[in-house]
Amino acid sequence: MTTIKTLILAAGQGTRMRSALPKVLHKIANRSLLEHVYKTSKQIDNNEVSVIYGHGGELVKDSLSMLDVNWVHQKEQLGTGHAVQQAESIINDADTVLILYGDVPLLESATIEGLLHKVTDESLALLTVQLDDPTGYGRIVRDKDKQVVKIVEQKDANEIDKLINEVNTGILAVKGKNLKKWISQLNSNNAQQEFYLTDIIEMAVKSGVIVNTHQPESEDEVLGVNNRKQLSYLERVYQAKQADILMEAGVTLFDPARIDCRGEFASLGQDISVDINVIFEGCNQIGNNVTIGANTIINNSIIADNVQILANSIIDNAIVGEGCRIGPFARLRQQAELANHVHIGNFVEIKKSTIAQGSKVNHLSYIGDATIGRGVNIGAGTITCNYDGVNKFRTTIEDGVFIGSDTQLIAPVTVAKNATIGAGSTITKDTPEGGLTLSRAKQISLKNWQKPVKK
Ligand code: UD1
Ligand code: CA
Repeated sequence: MTTIKTLILAAGQGTRMRSALPKVLHKIANRSLLEHVYKTSKQIDNNEVSVIYGHGGELVKDSLSMLDVNWVHQKEQLGTGHAVQQAESIINDADTVLILYGDVPLLESATIEGLLHKVTDESLALLTVQLDDPTGYGRIVRDKDKQVVKIVEQKDANEIDKLINEVNTGILAVKGKNLKKWISQLNSNNAQQEFYLTDIIEMAVKSGVIVNTHQPESEDEVLGVNNRKQLSYLERVYQAKQADILMEAGVTLFDPARIDCRGEFASLGQDISVDINVIFEGCNQIGNNVTIGANTIINNSIIADNVQILANSIIDNAIVGEGCRIGPFARLRQQAELANHVHIGNFVEIKKSTIAQGSKVNHLSYIGDATIGRGVNIGAGTITCNYDGVNKFRTTIEDGVFIGSDTQLIAPVTVAKNATIGAGSTITKDTPEGGLTLSRAKQISLKNWQKPVKK
């Protein structure tokens, strides 16, 4: 099997983004443009990926430091041909070289496969597209037999060239042996005084190599990002696609235009229904018959079957068991783990806590660093005081406990099985099994008390 050597060109500055951040590090669906391209290219078998970087230097490298990338530095950006020249030493004659752009994020791997099928020792493959407005792009010039003869850049084009609607996407595949020969012959005698990679097309034709063309299914696949408007357009294209994928998988979306997926699903059940303005981030796993209310954010979480998430809830790095009801206005975060049939109500925050089956925290509470048993009822306004300003401590509430409203549990503390804590208590010591514990000043009434009068 031939080795594919992918070169992702990503050295350009991206002036029109008007940003301190290198262009390829701007994000679509919370993932950098460059990472999108990288991930797509990794879907191709037998592929070694190199990124040609320059502007933004180390920042660009650091952004993908966890990935398997060969980094090639282009000190000065003297054109796309010059960029490819920097990688010459890593290209073997027998390789197929695939050129991708770091700022063209939505290319599909199926399109790349189609392109790769059209490369042989005697031919190269060029991805082209017909545009209603081809301004700015290199034009594909064909002869009377419709064979490609060369690419003319916008700035070098004459009036007749400018009428051509078929443009160069920049994406191409070519045999290493041919590419190495041609890039060594590039010059910068053109309007931009750059080394154009596109000049290899004319060289190919002159040496009898056939130029095959291939087209993407959709023009959006080959659109590049040069400014924030294009970035937002491609974000919407990407999100529309995610919505389609979800609906095809059996998810009901109340409005496919008002949902954002910035990550992936490890698994998706049947009959999930999603109200408007829901955001999925990171890697989520969602079971069957889950309903998700409006304005909810779910990040890196596991949601089991038959869970009901009511509007305006945030579920962040949490595990939610079967049949739980969450929200509205609930926040589960950082290792919140709910067993089956737990109810978490409005204005409740759960952090680093496990809550066992059938327990309820229905109103206005903070549960942090706690272990809560089965069948526990936590009254409104209960706070686990887990932090002394320096250290964090755990609260344990055993099975069957009833905590009265407005209780503070000063950790470390344990409330033993089946105990009842009277409302308004501040619990500083462990409490015994069963019975009632309360710490509340005795109520008094002063019969003869006079209201103050205004002086
Ligand atoms: C290029 C093509 C043009 C095509 C268009 C599609 C050439 C000469 N022209 O033009 O035919 O229609 O893309 O978008 O190839 N880059 C580097 N190093 C450099 C120069 C560029 O890494 O020295 C990278 C950029 O970061 C970018 C890509 O190459 O990702 C394309 O560069 P850009 O300057 O945008 O090329 P265009 O002039 O748009
Ligand atoms: Ca460009």
